[in-house]
Amino acid sequence: MEPTEVARLEGSDLFQRAAATADRFLENIETVVHGKRDEIKLVFAAMICGGHVLFEDVPGTAKTVLARAIAQTISGATPSRIQCTPDLQPTDVTGLSIFNQRERDFEFRPGPIFANVILVDEINRAMPKTQSALLEAMAEQQVTVDGKTRVLPDPFLLLATENPIEYEGTFPLPEAQLDRFFLKTALGYPTIDEELQIVEEQRHGHPLSWLEPVVDVDDIRALRDAVTTVYVDPLLQRWIVELVRATRNLDEVAVGASVRGSLALERAARAWALLDHRAYVVPEDIDRLFASVLLHRVVFRPTFLAEARRVGWNEAVEGIERKCFAAAPRPEPEPAEVRPVPEPVPVARDQH
Ligand SMILES: Nc1ncnc2c1ncn2[C@@H]1O[C@H](COP(=O)(O)OP(=O)(O)OP(=O)(O)O)[C@@H](O)[C@H]1O
Ligand SMILES: [Mg+2]
Repeated sequence: MEPTEVARLEGSDLFQRAAATADRFLENIETVVHGKRDEIKLVFAAMICGGHVLFEDVPGTAKTVLARAIAQTISGATPSRIQCTPDLQPTDVTGLSIFNQRERDFEFRPGPIFANVILVDEINRAMPKTQSALLEAMAEQQVTVDGKTRVLPDPFLLLATENPIEYEGTFPLPEAQLDRFFLKTALGYPTIDEELQIVEEQRHGHPLSWLEPVVDVDDIRALRDAVTTVYVDPLLQRWIVELVRATRNLDEVAVGASVRGSLALERAARAWALLDHRAYVVPEDIDRLFASVLLHRVVFRPTFLAEARRVGWNEAVEGIERKCFAAAPRPEPEPAEVRPVPEPVPVARDQH
């Protein structure tokens, strides 16, 4: 694509509106969740790609606050929360038909899945049957109860939290289901200064109580449309597929990332570019997203898992990343990509 064509795309009304929506959205969320811009961007990218997010995280890192902040930022969006337990039934998630004596007919009571932003806590404590119901709803954006199919709201973003695998009495998500998550991330602890700010600002209540909506559902739809227009150079497209395929050829790996991985990495890269106000993907986008989008889809061999326990998960995974990038080297940039990347727009952090 010629640089002039990229400039034309970036100047279009659709793109401008999308970029402005993205800024307003991120800025608003950052007034309640501090120091996590990259992670919030990941979650937002998943949402505008129609994907869902898995968090493997320590307690108290603003996951609940983030889910609520996203729902509050989009006017008219509804939040909900599902706490998974071993006795949670599929109909506790989807809802069910109950007989109404007065009307002498069945009436559908929608379950908590009928919301725009759903936080599913400790998904690995739900029994497999309930996990399947959840994952089916995620994939299809609809649920079938008593033979009737019901469409779920739009936008539809599910954020699931997972206990560490070693946790007793859990049902680890089967690999095939992990593949249904668009990406996996963790919020992690804030820095000392951020933590001080959090303590300070909550003295008179939680900032969520005064968080106002700044975008509407139509803005989100326009953003989604704009993502589809973001340009991916054929060389980069090929690189994405090569990187995904590289995960399938490692000694440490039993099953590599699936085709869903390629689809997700390409979409995520386009969304990431747009959040940075670019109508074209650069190799750095793919580099940044590789681990978050792909690694939870990979099934590692027991020998690798033992090694990872010894040296630490992050280090072990970095080794995997290095091997994939060595097997699929970064392509030479095309003219449209060598344009300097615009500086990210500074975000006001002192609004509270
Ligand atoms: N990075 C952060 N920015 C702002 N507030 C934070 C941050 N991290 C933690 N907090 C604050 O810590 C408290 C706990 O957050 P929250 O309840 O969202 O945690 P959680 O991740 O859902 O925890 P759990 O895993 O136990 O459910 C909230 O008051 C939240 O505002
Ligand atoms: Mg929570």
